[in-house]
Amino acid sequence: MILHKSPRLNLEKRTVMKLDKKSLDLLNEYLKIEAYYKYALREMSARLENLDDYCEMNYAHNPIHHMESRLKTPESIIQKIQTRGFEFSMESLVENIYDIAGIRVVCCYIFDIYKLLELLEGQSNLKIKIKKDYIKNPKETGYRSLHVILEMQITIGNIDRWVPVEIQFRTIAMDMWASLEHELRYKSDNKFSIEDTNALKKYSDDLHEIDKSMENIYINNNSN
Ligand code: GTP
Ligand code: MG
Repeated sequence: MILHKSPRLNLEKRTVMKLDKKSLDLLNEYLKIEAYYKYALREMSARLENLDDYCEMNYAHNPIHHMESRLKTPESIIQKIQTRGFEFSMESLVENIYDIAGIRVVCCYIFDIYKLLELLEGQSNLKIKIKKDYIKNPKETGYRSLHVILEMQITIGNIDRWVPVEIQFRTIAMDMWASLEHELRYKSDNKFSIEDTNALKKYSDDLHEIDKSMENIYINNNSN
């Protein structure tokens, strides 16, 4: 199952954020290349779906439970440039923001994540640029996922371009934790008590134990 969340862009009609002249100019320029990210998102999603089919054929198991994809909103792009202090230019936007096209791949088991990564690493027209393994090294908060930033070669008309895509791989349990933690954090205005912070970290560890135990049941019942 794929869920696409691509907000439609029409800067003139947008009232969510009051943009100054500089931001508007930059975003108008960005809109000219926004389609590249959209195409990359579509091609990468198809490639992941094909990998899921390949695994079904070869291992009688679908590693992907579901996927979500989204294009970063213009507001969020501007916000990132401002808060990170990046130079305010198109070159800087293309150079520094890797997660304009983002896919979240929610897997059944932990080993599925590494199997998909191994398969992707062997594919042509893809360059894996950055891997951040928050499963082996969870964040302070308890956050777990494997983040991969890659560049994908796409053809627009008859011109080839390399476009960055960020993929977050996680299990259903990691996704459940991250979704609720995000929601709770957002609702509490980022002001968790130390008790709540510790509790959330512990629930992440508990869920990880459950992930490993359920993976073991799968392995014990499927090894021949
Ligand atoms: P960004 O600029 O936010 O992308 O930061 P970064 O480039 O350092 O990337 P990082 O590897 O921290 O990943 C950022 C993304 O991972 C966020 O947009 C979230 O989707 C997710 N994430 C990272 N840390 C947490 C966390 O503590 N809780 C939750 N719920 N999500 C997290
Ligand atoms: Mg990021």
